[in-house]
Amino acid sequence: MSQIAPSLFITGTDTGVGKTVCTAALARALREMGHEVGVMKPIQTGVRRTQEGWEPGDAEYLTHVSGVNDPMDLVCPVRLEAPLAPSVAAELEGTTVDLARVLAAYHELRTRHAGVLVEGAGGIAVPIQGDYGMADLARKMELPVLIVARPALGTINHTVLTVRYAQSAGLTVLGVIVAGMPLNPGLAEQTSPAAIEQLTGVPVLGRLPYDDKINTDRCDPGASVDWMRASGTAQRVLDQMNILANALSK
Ligand SMILES: Nc1ncnc2c1ncn2[C@@H]1O[C@H](COP(=O)(O)OP(=O)(O)OP(=O)(O)O)[C@@H](O)[C@H]1O
Ligand SMILES: [Mg+2]
Repeated sequence: MSQIAPSLFITGTDTGVGKTVCTAALARALREMGHEVGVMKPIQTGVRRTQEGWEPGDAEYLTHVSGVNDPMDLVCPVRLEAPLAPSVAAELEGTTVDLARVLAAYHELRTRHAGVLVEGAGGIAVPIQGDYGMADLARKMELPVLIVARPALGTINHTVLTVRYAQSAGLTVLGVIVAGMPLNPGLAEQTSPAAIEQLTGVPVLGRLPYDDKINTDRCDPGASVDWMRASGTAQRVLDQMNILANALSK
């Protein structure tokens, strides 16, 4: 099997599901495994302007934890203050999301790294500008999608909807990572990953344990980086990318 550069679009079944934690841990793990990947949070909402620039957000966590050193203007080219979907936040601020700027930054990062992990905002159907949304951006970037999902009751519905929406938008769904698996999972947490695989045909590539040491504000990834490697999840992501690439080349 040929080795391909690991570039991915990471979306979630909702906001706050663990996309940033998983993206940063995956980037760090892949880098430790010899894959020189960069990170990107193309559009960040809900961050305040400060005298020096912007208060830290997902982009700072991603770069700090992964150990990537790129200018913040490339990693996070668009920031908006309102904690809303990008198109709504932009409208409220009397502006529009500069998609050309987003894509120029993305292409520059692709030239700097063998691969780039791009974290979307919110979920796959979130609007960026008018009816142009996250799925359109992932398609424009020509990236397969990795979905981060919750373990709790309701996740089957959210994950199936996300997979189907992505596929109907012409995207390839690589797999699912379930984030925040409790130490003592209940029945829903135990059974939902298998149900998701069965209903979607998409593999669950890992189950990140709940870890109260993880703190995105303090840039503390807890054990998530070690887990990403030791659990074999990072390797399964690579394997799955190769399986898809080989299937497409046939
Ligand atoms: N495995 C975990 N164990 C414990 N807490 C976690 C875990 N994963 C994420 N968290 C916490 O949950 C919160 C949301 O995580 P994260 O910021 O990664 O979500 P997100 O999907 O990127 O959100 P957003 O839509 O805002 O980008 C954070 O406070 C983070 O510290
Ligand atoms: Mg995030």
